[in-house]
Order: sequence, then C-alpha cells, then structure tokens
Amino acid sequence: MLTRAVFPVAGFGTRFLPASKAIPKELIPLVDKPALQYVVEEAVAAGFTTAIFVTAEGKAAIEDHFDRNLRLEAFLAQKGKQELLRMVQELGSLVEVVAVRQKQALGLGHAVLQAASLLASEPFAVLLGDDVIVGENPAIGRLVEVHRQTGASVVAVMEVPGEEISRYGCAAAEPLGNGVFRVHDLVEKPSPEQAPSRWAVIGRYILTPTVLHELRTTPPDPSGEIQLTEGLRRTLKREPVYACTFPGTRYDAGNKGDFLRATVELGLSHPELGRWFKSFLEDLARRHFQV
Ligand code: UTP
Repeated sequence: MLTRAVFPVAGFGTRFLPASKAIPKELIPLVDKPALQYVVEEAVAAGFTTAIFVTAEGKAAIEDHFDRNLRLEAFLAQKGKQELLRMVQELGSLVEVVAVRQKQALGLGHAVLQAASLLASEPFAVLLGDDVIVGENPAIGRLVEVHRQTGASVVAVMEVPGEEISRYGCAAAEPLGNGVFRVHDLVEKPSPEQAPSRWAVIGRYILTPTVLHELRTTPPDPSGEIQLTEGLRRTLKREPVYACTFPGTRYDAGNKGDFLRATVELGLSHPELGRWFKSFLEDLARRHFQV
C-alpha cells in the first residue's frame, strides 16, 4: 500500500537567497499558499496519508505549518472568522506529519535515507517541495498508476530543451507508449553533448525498498553529496525502473525566474484575485509594452 510520502526539505535553498536565509524556501508563498502546501496537497489528492518531512535546523516552521494551531483557532473562533477557522483547521488535519532531521545537507539521496527507519519495507513516494505541479489531476497519481502496473520504481520525466538538461538528472529511456518508458540509464546533470536524451527527471518518485538498500552503499559524488540519481542507477542493475510523463504544469519554485512565472500564472487563476489581476496585467502591458 502506498501511503507514505517523503518530502526532503533540508536544503539551504541557496538559489533563493536572501529570501531563504531565515525562512525555509519551501514555505515561500505562491500567491497565498506556501510552495510546499501545493505539493503536500498533490500527494493527499493521490491517496497518501502520511507526510515524512526530512527537515534541518531552522526549518521547524514546516512542521508547524501542517500542525494544528489551537491558539490561532481559538482567536479566529472568538472573532467569528468562520471561513478562516475552517481553512486553518483543514490544513492542520490534511495529513499525518512525521519529521526527521538530516543533520548535514549531504544530498538528496542522503536526505531520503534519513527516512528509512520510518518506511518499513514498502514502496513510498518522494516529492520535492520546490517542484510545484499545478493541474486538475495529481502528477504523483500518474506515477502511482505506473507503479501499480509494474511493481517497480517510477520517476517523473519531462522533455526539456537541450541546453537545459545539464540542470537535471537525465534518463536514457525506451518509450513503451502512453507516456511510459523503461529506464536503461540515468546520468546526473550531464552536459548537453553527453546527455543520452532530453528527458529530465523532475521531483516526483515512487521508490521500492531496493533503492534505499542501494543508497546505503552509494558513495558520495565529488562534491560530497549522495545523489538519489546514483542510487537509482545502481537499482537498475537489480530490478527494472520506469519513467513516465505527468499531467499538469511544473514550476521550479526554487528558481527565482520560474517562481515569478508561477506567481503570475497562479495569480491569474486565483478564484478571488484572478479577474482583478488579469486587468492589472493588461493595463501594465499597455503602459509598458504598448500591447
Ligand atoms: P535542491 O538542490 O533544489 O535544493 O534540492 P537546495 O539544495 O535547498 O537548493 P539550492 O540548489 O541550494 O538553491 C531539492 C530538494 O531536496 C532537498 C531540498 O530542501 C529541496 O527541497 N534537499 C537537498 C535536502 O533535503 N537535503 C539535501 O542535502 C539537499
């Protein structure tokens, strides 16, 4: 049964400094909701019931965000702010929260390993808090479907322009139809010339216990980090790994440019602000770009 989802949130978020100095970058809001909340809601929509946050010093606000806040609830009740009260209560009971610490930021593979003792010997999901995917159906739900069909580990892939592949793990993969691929090899951040494809692995995974087993003996890369990509590559020698495309639009909310793009697009589709924001942007475009 796939019920546990791991959210590695222990990184320093250096691409988002200075905003991420004291505030976890995963809690920086897109319009009015922290990036991580979109990702946790996606997992809940796909049937996951336990969120395992791999956190670090200075990131306790992440656990607090998904916890009850009885003082706030009492205040909102006393002021008669029923709608806000309901929203805060729903958020506090969205998911069961477990937190473990990654004491040093030694890479994504190392972060996932910190959750190992909580994962029994069942498959589990990993979702990266800065990969926000917006759409009608939960992206991780598609990976769950492919895992149910194959019983194997599944990674989400997205086709990117050649010059961008060096920012991602890259999958050498054979198409099986319907957006599903059999993975033959994985390369972490290849140069465009060395990349075996333009299929970039993005922050959604279903992993079998074999991946944890392999991660335990995966050596650190030259920068001292244990890469999840390397753990998966070693898993390929023991069992099949699949990749699939996913529904929705993906934003890298840990990157300032993509964060702006997400903010504008989510602002436009916001139920309360969308219409106002659209006419604001139209006016702005007329004044600045003579559109
Ligand atoms: P990123 O590389 O995007 O995050 O890792 P980062 O290291 O925090 O950010 P930059 O690159 O310096 O700006 C993807 C996810 O993995 C977590 C991060 O918190 C992020 O959500 N992560 C990364 C860990 O939990 N531990 C690590 O050692 C590294």
